[in-house]
Amino acid sequence: MSREYEKLLKCYQSFKEQIDFQPVIALVLGSGLGNYADGIKIVSSLYYHDIEGFPVSTAPGHKGRFIFGYLRDIPIAAMQGRVHCYEGYDVHDVVLPIRLLKLMGAKVLILTNAAGGINEQYKAGDFMLIRDQIASFVPSPLIGENVKELGPRFCDMSEVYDKDLRVVIKETSAELGIHLQEGVYIQLTGPDFETPAEIKMYRMLGADAVGMSTACEGIAANHMGMKVCGISCISNMGSGMTENPLSQQEVEEMTDRAAPVFKKLMNKSIVNIFDRIIN
Ligand code: HPA
Repeated sequence: MSREYEKLLKCYQSFKEQIDFQPVIALVLGSGLGNYADGIKIVSSLYYHDIEGFPVSTAPGHKGRFIFGYLRDIPIAAMQGRVHCYEGYDVHDVVLPIRLLKLMGAKVLILTNAAGGINEQYKAGDFMLIRDQIASFVPSPLIGENVKELGPRFCDMSEVYDKDLRVVIKETSAELGIHLQEGVYIQLTGPDFETPAEIKMYRMLGADAVGMSTACEGIAANHMGMKVCGISCISNMGSGMTENPLSQQEVEEMTDRAAPVFKKLMNKSIVNIFDRIIN
């Protein structure tokens, strides 16, 4: 058995010894969006540092724990914070939580993040449904011995972000009157923000929003056959697109302001996904 798979099974064992819960929908809550989990009827929580071998997030705005609970009657696991490559973690550790969520039983994965807008039609405060991704500038989490229990050696990537989930989320945002962009997310390692020249290059490559997470998680989830969707909160426009230098403070202020709308969109989307796709 590969060391990677052994470590994952150990984490799963540690989770099972502490928590008896089987989520159907799993959520990864990005920078500044973690408070969403407080609106769930929480039945238990588990700090990452209490799971043996689990990577612990050090990023600002990331609480570092799993929340387990219910939205209506829907069992949900939410990650309040994630780990990133820029924290020094190997990409296999970065996606370990996603693999663990699958072992827990999650069928649908909702990835969220704060991202910089690259598309000139976007503005800070917008939400973007992720249609596709560019992960060519970050290492693939599938490099190394393939864990066949998780998925195939060469995995199809033609629809990482499930079309049916995207339709439901778009219908939900229309029902709620929430404006939703749809576009391509590009992941970079960070932690430095981009230069204006890099933002121009990523726009030429077809990216609409840029961030430091998510795409490698999308690959790992897709490898395991999970249904995946993703929503970015455009916390700022990309470097060079406004007069202002970029800062983490700006990212957190905007995600805080967007939090009530995010909560509305998320709550209703989860219920609609459960009723229209899972049930
Ligand atoms: N670039 C990269 N990551 C980000 C940004 C950005 O402009 N905003 C939020 N996360």
